[in-house]
Amino acid sequence: MKIYRKDGDALEILVFPHESIRKGEYLLVTDVERGYSLIVQVIDIKYVDSPGILDELVREGLLAKSVVVENDLVNIGRASKFLKDTKLATAVIRGSIKGGFFSSVYTDLPSRAFSRIERVSTSKIIELVDDGVYKYRINIGRDFDGKDVYIYAEHLDGSLTLITGMKGSGKSHLAKLLASNLVSFGAPILVFDLNGEYLGLAEDEKVEVFESGKNLLFSLEYLGRDATLNLMVNVLGLPGVSANIFNEVWDIAVRRGYGITIDGLINVINNYVRNLMIRDALISRLMILKSCRFITDRGGTRIEDIFRSVRGAIVNLKGLSSVERKILVEIFLSKLVNLLERDLIDPLFIFAEEAHMYVRNTYWEDIITRMRHFGLFVIFITNQPDSLGHEVFRQLDNIFVFRFQNDHDLDMLSKISNVDSATVKSIVKDLKRGRVLILGNVVNFIPSVVDVHKLPYKPMGHTKRVFNVDKLALS
Ligand SMILES: Nc1ncnc2c1ncn2[C@@H]1O[C@H](COP(=O)(O)OP(=O)(O)OP(=O)(O)O)[C@@H](O)[C@H]1O
Ligand SMILES: [Mg+2]
Repeated sequence: MKIYRKDGDALEILVFPHESIRKGEYLLVTDVERGYSLIVQVIDIKYVDSPGILDELVREGLLAKSVVVENDLVNIGRASKFLKDTKLATAVIRGSIKGGFFSSVYTDLPSRAFSRIERVSTSKIIELVDDGVYKYRINIGRDFDGKDVYIYAEHLDGSLTLITGMKGSGKSHLAKLLASNLVSFGAPILVFDLNGEYLGLAEDEKVEVFESGKNLLFSLEYLGRDATLNLMVNVLGLPGVSANIFNEVWDIAVRRGYGITIDGLINVINNYVRNLMIRDALISRLMILKSCRFITDRGGTRIEDIFRSVRGAIVNLKGLSSVERKILVEIFLSKLVNLLERDLIDPLFIFAEEAHMYVRNTYWEDIITRMRHFGLFVIFITNQPDSLGHEVFRQLDNIFVFRFQNDHDLDMLSKISNVDSATVKSIVKDLKRGRVLILGNVVNFIPSVVDVHKLPYKPMGHTKRVFNVDKLALS
């Protein structure tokens, strides 16, 4: 390999026919004499485009078809074949090494004439950049050379993380791997499990699955006035005037001993609210709450108690109606926010699959902006990156991108701060299933292509298909 030229922050490198490199791989360009190296990442590979090469190719095609024998006494044919198979790689500069120390900037260029260019494994670059202060290591997968790549759980802590990629590319698989590692370190996690596919995590005794109506029941008394009002207004669309009346209804129910149950509140409304429209507005919403299988009159689950006995809570949203899902998630979020603000629970991670299916965008934005300070750290998993608001995108710290083909999704990703869009666009189009491009803090801003490891337990929730391929192949 040889340096050809520099274009912006990228080197163009000639790769000769006997050499091979792959998109996403790292190269070390070393000026031995000056003890200076650049770390560059290959983001594109093409053929060299030299003058006359088209004529040459056409002439070869013609010769192959005819009986004319070429008389090549000076071996020009061999040289031109070499030229035709020489490739040009675009490699973005990610940092430099001088005196054994890594720096994310470069102040000089290595010699074009004498530099040595060699492939170097991604795991080695990550190790080199790692400052060694963290201890919770997650063995996430393998690099191009089959070497294990580690990330640190501390980098997920206090951060906002996105796992994205097209359908079936391996997002949930990675989320499960991260979740099970976090639990093994004793970190509290909560998973909003849309498809009931995280249930396998419960093989770990520190993880419990919460099923609506079984071990997941909330009483209005536990939710309190604020959380209940939140539900009525934000999920069930109660208008402002009725919301004020609801506040009074709650007060009366407490003062006059009606009891904080749905029936108790309905009794108050029937006895005290004269305006028919408001009365209907309140009662119809309370009836929806009553029909939710996780709402009970008394007793029930206390979120602050959940993490006393387990580290991982899987909230199964499968089988719930869309309204039930929204109500349940809103209960969790508003209660968690409240408990964290009052220091009644420890900080925790939330895994949210396809969050737009059950939470309003503005709510996430609020949570993300406010709750980072209180200790609620979200890992979004989605195949539709544009379903997340811009505010979320702006604040992402870590991004795991699986394969994408659609340019619209790719454009969305390139809006993420700290990411060079050329890298993302070029690399993710060619990723196979289970192979991910990791960006951001978690890899110390060394974009890394990794084959995610298999899970240590049997995952659940395969997509159901008409043709079960395994069975067909055996019969
Ligand atoms: N690294 C991996 N090693 C082994 N199997 C994997 C890996 N990644 C994904 N798979 C398998 O590929 C299939 C699809 O993966 P997964 O369910 O994680 O995709 P997804 O991106 O979440 O898809 P969807 O958008 O439909 O939710 C699953 O059966 C999963 O077990
Ligand atoms: Mg999935």
